[in-house]
Amino acid sequence: MAYSISMSLVHIIVFLWIQIKSASPSELSCNEFERSALLKLKQSFKDPLNALSSWKGFDCCSWKGVECGNYTDRIIGLNLSRKSLEGEINPSLLELKHIISLDLSLNDFNGTDIPDFIGSLANLRYLNLSNSNFVGSVPHHLGNLSRLQYLDLGSDESISISGLSNDDLSWVSRLSSLRYLDMRMINLRKATNWLHEVNELPSLSVLRLSSCNIYTIPQSILHLNLTYLTVFDLSSNNIRSTLPEWLFNMTNLNVLDLSRNFLSGPIPGTFQNMPFLKVLNLGHNSLSGYIPLSIDQLTSLEELYLNSNRLNGTLPQIIGQMSTLTILNVSSNLLTGIVTESHFANLSRLNILNLSFNNFSLQVSSNWTPPFRLDSIYMSSCRLGPRFPPWLITQKGYAKLDIGNAGVVDSLPTWFWSLTSEIVSLNLSLNQIKGSLPPSLHSISITFMDLSSNLFEGPLPRLHHGIQMLQLNDNSFEGTIPLDLGHDMPMLRCLQLSNNLFHGPSSVTFGLWLANNNLTGAIPDCWSNLGALEILDLGNNNLYGRIPESFGYMNSLVSLHLNNNDLFGELPLSLKNCTLLTLLDLSNNQLSGNIPTWIPNSLTNLIILRLRSNRFIGPVPPELSRLNSLQLLDISINKLSGTIPISFGNFTSMKKTKMKGTLLGEPWSGYEEHLMVCINGRQLRYTKTLSLVTSVDLSSNNLYGEIPSEITSLVGLLVLNLSKNGLSGEIPQNIGNMGWLESLDLSKNQLNGQIPPTLSNLTSLTHLNLSFNNLSGRIPLGFQLQTFTDPSIYEGNSGLCGPPLTEGCSQSSMNITSSNSGGDDGIGTLWLELSVIAGFVTGVVVVLSVLLLQRSWRLMFFVAVDKAFDWVHAKIGRSSKTSIIGDKKWTLYPFLYANMKTPIKIPNQCVQATASSYTTGSSIGPLAIDYCLVLRAIH
Ligand SMILES: *[C@@H]1O[C@H](CO)[C@@H](O)[C@H](O)[C@H]1NC(C)=O
Ligand SMILES: *[C@@H]1O[C@H](CO)[C@@H](O)[C@H](O)[C@H]1NC(C)=O
Ligand SMILES: *[C@@H]1O[C@H](CO)[C@@H](O)[C@H](O)[C@H]1NC(C)=O
Ligand SMILES: *[C@@H]1O[C@H](CO)[C@@H](O)[C@H](O)[C@H]1NC(C)=O
Ligand SMILES: *[C@@H]1O[C@H](CO)[C@@H](O)[C@H](O)[C@H]1NC(C)=O
Ligand SMILES: *[C@@H]1O[C@H](CO)[C@@H](O)[C@H](O)[C@H]1NC(C)=O
Repeated sequence: MAYSISMSLVHIIVFLWIQIKSASPSELSCNEFERSALLKLKQSFKDPLNALSSWKGFDCCSWKGVECGNYTDRIIGLNLSRKSLEGEINPSLLELKHIISLDLSLNDFNGTDIPDFIGSLANLRYLNLSNSNFVGSVPHHLGNLSRLQYLDLGSDESISISGLSNDDLSWVSRLSSLRYLDMRMINLRKATNWLHEVNELPSLSVLRLSSCNIYTIPQSILHLNLTYLTVFDLSSNNIRSTLPEWLFNMTNLNVLDLSRNFLSGPIPGTFQNMPFLKVLNLGHNSLSGYIPLSIDQLTSLEELYLNSNRLNGTLPQIIGQMSTLTILNVSSNLLTGIVTESHFANLSRLNILNLSFNNFSLQVSSNWTPPFRLDSIYMSSCRLGPRFPPWLITQKGYAKLDIGNAGVVDSLPTWFWSLTSEIVSLNLSLNQIKGSLPPSLHSISITFMDLSSNLFEGPLPRLHHGIQMLQLNDNSFEGTIPLDLGHDMPMLRCLQLSNNLFHGPSSVTFGLWLANNNLTGAIPDCWSNLGALEILDLGNNNLYGRIPESFGYMNSLVSLHLNNNDLFGELPLSLKNCTLLTLLDLSNNQLSGNIPTWIPNSLTNLIILRLRSNRFIGPVPPELSRLNSLQLLDISINKLSGTIPISFGNFTSMKKTKMKGTLLGEPWSGYEEHLMVCINGRQLRYTKTLSLVTSVDLSSNNLYGEIPSEITSLVGLLVLNLSKNGLSGEIPQNIGNMGWLESLDLSKNQLNGQIPPTLSNLTSLTHLNLSFNNLSGRIPLGFQLQTFTDPSIYEGNSGLCGPPLTEGCSQSSMNITSSNSGGDDGIGTLWLELSVIAGFVTGVVVVLSVLLLQRSWRLMFFVAVDKAFDWVHAKIGRSSKTSIIGDKKWTLYPFLYANMKTPIKIPNQCVQATASSYTTGSSIGPLAIDYCLVLRAIH
């Protein structure tokens, strides 16, 4: 009894407390409907970080991210940004009828559409769904949000990939209150009327449409409503037209960004209507003509980017009067002439100056004191010399200096190193600067240093432990190379010391990977601190001994060349930690043991595996075919035995006749991935096009048994060499399926039977060798086989007859007829034609510079794969050998075309970006370096 009374008391007290609580205006608890809606919402999310752990209890107004009104209990804001939420968005959200502000940005709703019902949250003024991995079409229902002022659906390339698209922006025009619209990276290719829709938004202040795959911008517009626009970003689209004049009629603009498009023609000189413009970015287009003299009408301009265009003429002196300028970038144009002090007369606020890659000559008096104090100085390829520019002494504390290839023939002034305490990036390469490095260099926190091709001398001092790129090649540095290089410079991604005078006892071995010095010995076992190194090239040295265990610590390695040395022993098991390896070249050593199965099991990213010319024994591991990316397998000239695994028909990458998307090397790092590939009995050096070579070479082993017919499903293979083994049985009948085969060598085996007539389908074939087998019957006729008139490719087969052999065939072998070459003609013909062109090309240089794109560009590239080829065609022409792209000269390797079943088009902007990255890249900025090298001699 007492118990039940006390229970009732408790009930009453609780009841009263709740009454009091909800009545108290200072502590409004939340609306029950909304609370349960939030709980449903929470349930529908996956919340791996438990970010919504505070969402419990009654007072939902105090839950994290929930905002209630000051005088009501209703939820007016929900901020779930950066909570790593995943999953679906529950429609219970609609219960929040008073919500004004909704922020779901920076989560991962991977694969989900933006829900239509968000368009029913009628009070919304702020909606942020950016960087949240939504996919699909943006729902037109969002157009119902008539009070919306801020809408962000964009993605940042560096953060997330947008899977959104929108074919029709008419819903946007209904958002009449909108002030801020961000749709970066949403595919608007089909929304051709975008400007018209956006022009209905009279209050719009910020419009961001960068990377939207927009193709058109109207040249004229009847009436421009966008009078309040302050930021207009159309960068990184595909707009190919001249600059529309109306752009320069937007009087309130602060920022106009049209960079990275295909804009051509002159820059209109009509700047008088833009008194507030602070940032004008027209970089990375194809604009031509002069820099307009009226540029000084932009009286508020702070940042001017005209880089990477085709502007010609001189730098207008009037620029020197634009006293508001902080950034001036006119690099990579065709500008010429003398730049004088008056070009900078009033630029006292200038912070970043980039005049690189034009044809400028700087002529200032020897006691010139510039009005500015720069943070970044880029004057690569400007004529500054022959004296080392004395005015640099006034520029204390700069972070970046690039005066590469500036005609400086001088000693490095003694004051130089004392000014550089803040320097991050230094490029003095390609001058004739004399000097030595001060012992105190390690105290300067330099990250990128390129002093290559100068007259520097003296010993290599200790460098800052944060250094990532060090290029000292082609100088006269001397002395020994410190043993603890890896320990001192753990961040090192790129080191070039070749062509110096380094020496040392043969046991000081780090120097060994620095070819063109004079060192020999074993590889030291001290690599454990080089975890950041991505490319290690020790090829073509006289390295002796085992591959050190500590190589396994270099788990960032992408490319490892140890070829052409005297290494012996088995491969260290630790190498299996280098799981990022795409290229492993151990050829021409004395390595022994079985080919380890951890190679296919752990090094799953391998694209190129070369074990050629070693002493490997045992069977060919069937597991190799698990290497889905493998394009080049060369295990020839070993002592391998057993049969060719049937699984070899499964190499995924060799089954594709499409362009490979694989990227090797990054040009701006100064590194060029390279490999000697043996084709048609010739060693060819491949660089940029390496990624297009597909080859299987098992020759010169002790393999026996039949050639598995499965191998003929490798229809993307260009080279197949099975020669010099003990293979028997017949040549697979369907060998004609391998339509891309350029080189086929089956010689010096014990193959018997007739040559399959389908061989004549191989219209790409330029090299064939079937000699020294037991083949018999009539040599098939037709198509490409007709061009093989050299009888020696059939010699040593006593049973063969017919042309080009002199032995005629008896009647019994007459029934073999040439087969019809079937439907693959188009490709075959193209390849044939191109092979003919390919004949005279020996040096292999770029074209697929596109393939060597920055990470962010690759994405663009793959998106753009279907639209790039025409461009190359138009610009280069199918048969030309060299061409100008941007400001660089490229050589076209027709092989490229040949390997493409689907034509590829290279987007102009990618090429330009690459070209300019290439030219500025080796010296400047963290963006430029992706991964790097240790150089060696290329014999
Ligand atoms: C609520 O009150 C705070 C503090 O006075 C104020 O900063 C905030 O703007 C108010 N919120 C609304 C929606 O009125
Ligand atoms: C999205 O999900 C798919 C399948 O669940 C997954 O393969 C993909 O990697 C995810 N993408 C991102 C960007 O997380
Ligand atoms: C300008 O905006 C108004 C108001 O939204 C609209 O009615 C008109 O059609 C727009 N003009 C143009 C040329 O789009
Ligand atoms: C720019 O604005 C002026 C004045 O409003 C107008 O006369 C002119 O036609 C406009 N120019 C363009 C290209 O729209
Ligand atoms: C500058 O470029 C324009 C347009 O391409 C061209 O017509 C003109 O001849 C060039 N001028 C010089 C001096 O090269
Ligand atoms: C390299 O070293 C060897 C042996 O120490 C010496 O005979 C040779 O002259 C050196 N070569 C050069 C180019 O210095």
